[in-house]
Amino acid sequence: MSDLLIDGPRACVTGHPIAHSRSPMIHNYWLKTLNIKGHYDRVDTPPDIFPSFIRTMRDKGYVGCNVTLPNKELAYQIADVKTDRANRLRAANTLWFEGERLHADNTDIEGFLFNLDERAPGWDHKLDKAVILGAGGAAAAIIQALSERRASKIIIVNRTLEKAEDLARRFVGSIETTSFEKISEALDQATFLVNTTSLGMKGQPPLDLDLSRVNKNALVTDIVYVPLITNFLKSAQNRGLSIVDGLGMLLHQAAPGFEHWFGQRPHVTAELRALIEADISQVNP
Ligand code: ATR
Repeated sequence: MSDLLIDGPRACVTGHPIAHSRSPMIHNYWLKTLNIKGHYDRVDTPPDIFPSFIRTMRDKGYVGCNVTLPNKELAYQIADVKTDRANRLRAANTLWFEGERLHADNTDIEGFLFNLDERAPGWDHKLDKAVILGAGGAAAAIIQALSERRASKIIIVNRTLEKAEDLARRFVGSIETTSFEKISEALDQATFLVNTTSLGMKGQPPLDLDLSRVNKNALVTDIVYVPLITNFLKSAQNRGLSIVDGLGMLLHQAAPGFEHWFGQRPHVTAELRALIEADISQVNP
């Protein structure tokens, strides 16, 4: 079918690579269940073509898009109007037009917070010592989220220490940094632990940590969701720690964009979650 024959607004997810993205499944599920005319596609946009895609996306019929790796910083720079959270992170994952102006938001913070609020209510009372593995864009969103929930102490653990230090300097409050070689001290009596690196994702090296010093009441979470229960989460589970997987963050970060493009706030339902879970387990038996 010709693209122009699709009724209603169109949105898409842009990035490179993009074939793995579950965003079309999520948004098209919402369009169908809410009975809204429209469509959500995936568009492969290496960074050299991303700016021209954004300049011409309206002509192609798009009312906005999600932005994933590696274009989140570029998306932020190109937008005319930015939310406070996008400004804080200098990166955007959601773009939409209001009149002629392109607006940008970063909904990863919201996605992370909604997921934990839903699956581990009261989790933010356990932020005496929060340890974040990784220092990329996802780590920045999570540091902002933890700061908004008034974490007493945050420690960033990263392979490249300079990147952890650069990230820590962007935030006020007590943020320490260390390398993986010295992680055992960081984990000692940690009350919250999150993996934001790609370690443990299908096709990537595993994340194998000794969690014996982590506080027994700690919450452990991962932003990797393929596989759904990573080895890192399994080892936390085996120690009797509470865990939350990363799928909910993906689902919840999607909702604000849908509302901008299609005019209704969608719900992250158990049925939607089950649909994506089934897809993940099918591709990764
Ligand atoms: P994102 O924006 O999704 O967070 P990113 O900016 O590429 O992605 O960050 C990826 C994170 O995973 C980084 O913290 C990276 O560590 P470096 O800063 O040292 O590169 C971490 N990472 C990726 N592969 C890793 C590996 N094999 N061992 C340890 N850390 C790794």
